[in-house]
Amino acid sequence: MFDLNHKFPEFYQFHGRRISKKISESNINLINNKFKKYSIDNDVINLLIKEDYKLNLSINNDFKKIIIEVGFGNGDYLINNAKENPNCLYIGSEVYINGIARVLKYILKYNLENIKLCGINFLYLLKSLKPKTIDEIYVINPDPWPKKRHNKRRLLNSNNLLSMNTLLKKEGKIFISTDSKDYFDEIKLAINKENYFDEVIYACMSDSDIMYGISNYQRKAISKNKDIYKIEIFRN
Ligand SMILES: C[S@@+](CC[C@H](N)C(=O)[O-])C[C@H]1O[C@@H](n2cnc3c(N)ncnc32)[C@H](O)[C@@H]1O
Repeated sequence: MFDLNHKFPEFYQFHGRRISKKISESNINLINNKFKKYSIDNDVINLLIKEDYKLNLSINNDFKKIIIEVGFGNGDYLINNAKENPNCLYIGSEVYINGIARVLKYILKYNLENIKLCGINFLYLLKSLKPKTIDEIYVINPDPWPKKRHNKRRLLNSNNLLSMNTLLKKEGKIFISTDSKDYFDEIKLAINKENYFDEVIYACMSDSDIMYGISNYQRKAISKNKDIYKIEIFRN
């Protein structure tokens, strides 16, 4: 990945940090030796440079569903799901290097054959995928960018939500959670503005919701007594 990042820096750039604490020598070696085998970065970049945006992840696979998790962080939710559902293919999109290394370790530890990683900025993955080829997309507590002047960096704006929606197969869904009421309201506005989405549910999650407390960031917010909001978009 470091070689691709060096060669195509624009695809790896994003607002935020790719490295929050120093990457250990062992994580660097792990990424250098194993990332390529478990990643789709090469495929995505090859399409992007040809401006041929139709990566179809269903080709050559027998998986029942294709599920993307955007910004998987330390990867807990991704790894647990992949272990529990070996018949589904999980695409993990994340720019945070230590998170990628952690998931790689678990892929090797549990011999998981149903996770593919994408280390480039999700916006480019979004651009490269063929419409109507994805079953589910999860964005669990995206970076909230709480300062007003940074709001425009938020991933879930109306354009990106529309593009994500076009990737969904019939009966597909997008799940979003956030502990930022302001972001929640902004997403609601973006969705309502479009009159394009088939069915949308907005809710403040209760602690009995199966998606409540499923990730590190969510649990941190819950420990500070914050509400967790969810948005579920369904394609008929
Ligand atoms: C607030 S954290 C949440 C992490 C995890 N989902 C959780 O709930 O614990 C947001 C994550 O999204 C990742 N991220 C932000 N923008 C991204 C992008 N454009 N493409 C891929 N990952 C992104 C960040 O690196 C970070 O790990």
